[in-house]
Amino acid sequence: MFTYQKRTQYPIDIKHKDVRMARYILTQYGGPYGELGAAIRYLNHRYTMPDERGKTLLTDIGTEELGHVEMICMMVYQLTKDATIQELEEGGLGGNFATHGIDMFPVDANGQDFSVTGIGATGDFIANLSEDMAAEEKARATYEHLIDLATDAEVIKPLLFLRQREVVHFNRFKELYEVYKREYKSK
Ligand SMILES: [Fe+2]
Repeated sequence: MFTYQKRTQYPIDIKHKDVRMARYILTQYGGPYGELGAAIRYLNHRYTMPDERGKTLLTDIGTEELGHVEMICMMVYQLTKDATIQELEEGGLGGNFATHGIDMFPVDANGQDFSVTGIGATGDFIANLSEDMAAEEKARATYEHLIDLATDAEVIKPLLFLRQREVVHFNRFKELYEVYKREYKSK
């Protein structure tokens, strides 16, 4: 069961419209290394963890990733708020508008629909944790690209926060991976 708190994990307060940046950030909603995929990946992998340590960690981080989905959507919403059709077109979201209007839809920065093909699931907890670690590194790299593309401090601050969370998640997965490798796979 989940409970919902009506606030984002880190405050989002973007005052300047920037459709171009919204399109790039959308990749962390529906792109291959995005937050939606991360949430699905971890909330699936939790079931085949061998004990409560793994189930708890995967549930905690998977749930946090849902909070990051919310942050990303809020950033895209604020960056496109009151944008005209011409501004959407100039910023590269004309095609998105044609299909989805101003609704949020999980695509990557090039408009490719969200796909589960990038979510590995092997039924082997060591392989799955390796995948989770790689996913965190790929998300970190994507956030670094987004930070390079951003110019507004109010955009950069939450991106830096999200990047840092990927580093924390990677380290927590790595710790567990090493414990499990030692305890379950050393024979
Ligand atoms: Fe993460």
